[in-house]
Amino acid sequence: MAAGIKTYSLCTYLILSLTACSVMASSSSSEAIKGGYWPSWAKNLPPYSIETSFFTHIYYAFLIPNNVTFKFDIGYTTAMELLNFTSTLRAKKPAVKTLFSIGGAAEGPIFFGRMVSSPSMRKNFIDSSIEVARKFGFDGIDLDWEYPQTPKDMENLAYLLYEWRLEVQQEAKTTKRPPLLLTAAVYFSANLFLSGPYRSYPATSITKNLDWINVMNYDYHGSWEPSITGAHSALFDSKTNISTSYGLGSWIKSGVPKSKLIMGLPLYGKTWLLKDSKSHGVGSPAIDVGPGDQGVLTFAEIEQFNRDHKAKVEYDLESVSMYSVAGTTWIGYDDTLSVTMKIAYARALGIRGYFFWAVHGDYKWKISKRASQLWCV
Ligand SMILES: *[C@@H]1O[C@H](CO)[C@@H](O)[C@H](O)[C@H]1NC(C)=O
Ligand SMILES: *[C@@H]1O[C@H](CO)[C@@H](O)[C@H](O)[C@H]1NC(C)=O
Ligand SMILES: *[C@@H]1O[C@H](CO)[C@@H](O)[C@H](O)[C@H]1NC(C)=O
Repeated sequence: MAAGIKTYSLCTYLILSLTACSVMASSSSSEAIKGGYWPSWAKNLPPYSIETSFFTHIYYAFLIPNNVTFKFDIGYTTAMELLNFTSTLRAKKPAVKTLFSIGGAAEGPIFFGRMVSSPSMRKNFIDSSIEVARKFGFDGIDLDWEYPQTPKDMENLAYLLYEWRLEVQQEAKTTKRPPLLLTAAVYFSANLFLSGPYRSYPATSITKNLDWINVMNYDYHGSWEPSITGAHSALFDSKTNISTSYGLGSWIKSGVPKSKLIMGLPLYGKTWLLKDSKSHGVGSPAIDVGPGDQGVLTFAEIEQFNRDHKAKVEYDLESVSMYSVAGTTWIGYDDTLSVTMKIAYARALGIRGYFFWAVHGDYKWKISKRASQLWCV
């Protein structure tokens, strides 16, 4: 029942936001953000193949500084790749802005903890990141620390952001160039409450020093829960707070302005093997993760899988997400329908935009295109 009501109001949001498009078209102070991360290992999608009309910002993922000096040592191959990335995307019609993202899920959280705890390491990191951005022609820098581990890490992150912004402003003044953008990819919720000590992001420093944050509204469930299927990017969850509606709500409550909040959308899904093919909802018993590396498949791979196996595709009202079933294989993911609903929700909330992890996962730009059409600038 509750799900029915939510879906009804989502439809209302959708209609409201669609009609609002023509009216809102010219407001400029907070241009909509339609971001996408491009993993440098995504060999199926070279930068020149990115359909830039569906995006405003593309992030190069990832660069990692030296673990002793915290400066960036960029080798020849990477240098060529960075130059190709920025020049290709700048030359595209329409052009998009480019940022490089530092870190990523594969980089341990301790690494950043060490850097932020030392003022001189922070300075090395900041100066070197600005140098890299300018040298290779990026419009901005993104920090992807997954995740600060302690309240002390959060306090140090606040210092880092203040110092970073100060340096970016100084550099812009000295060089008479537009300041670099500064953004961060953050946890789905403003508070980390699931593991480790309870800790909250430094909302004041974020508000003051970052242009916006990319809220990672995905990976709520996965291979660490092999015995139950899950909607890994659930918009709603009536039983827990592990959902996008809760997460975005917590960010709004933290005081970070809505104009700095960007909703994360996954272009990938999570797979399980069902215990019983007849019990196949979200939250059904499973015996293991399914196909893909640690049970992860891109949206394009899921579309292929669904076609090859004539899978049954269902829309889950409660979580606002899709799942497909073929035999005992179960895949939870997002497609154009669930993304349409989530974008309607985000627009009704009044936040600034959305981003995808990651652009190479889309199938013929289906989802990117729909999202872009729904969120007129
Ligand atoms: C830094 O990286 C090197 C090479 O990957 C590794 O051997 C070393 O243990 C790392 N040092 C620290 C302090 O993490
Ligand atoms: C980028 O690399 C691609 C293929 O590797 C090449 O075709 C293209 O010309 C390069 N673009 C620029 C601007 O360097
Ligand atoms: C969800 O979070 C709120 C506070 O933000 C808390 O009061 C509530 O108990 C939480 N619910 C669950 C199921 O953990």
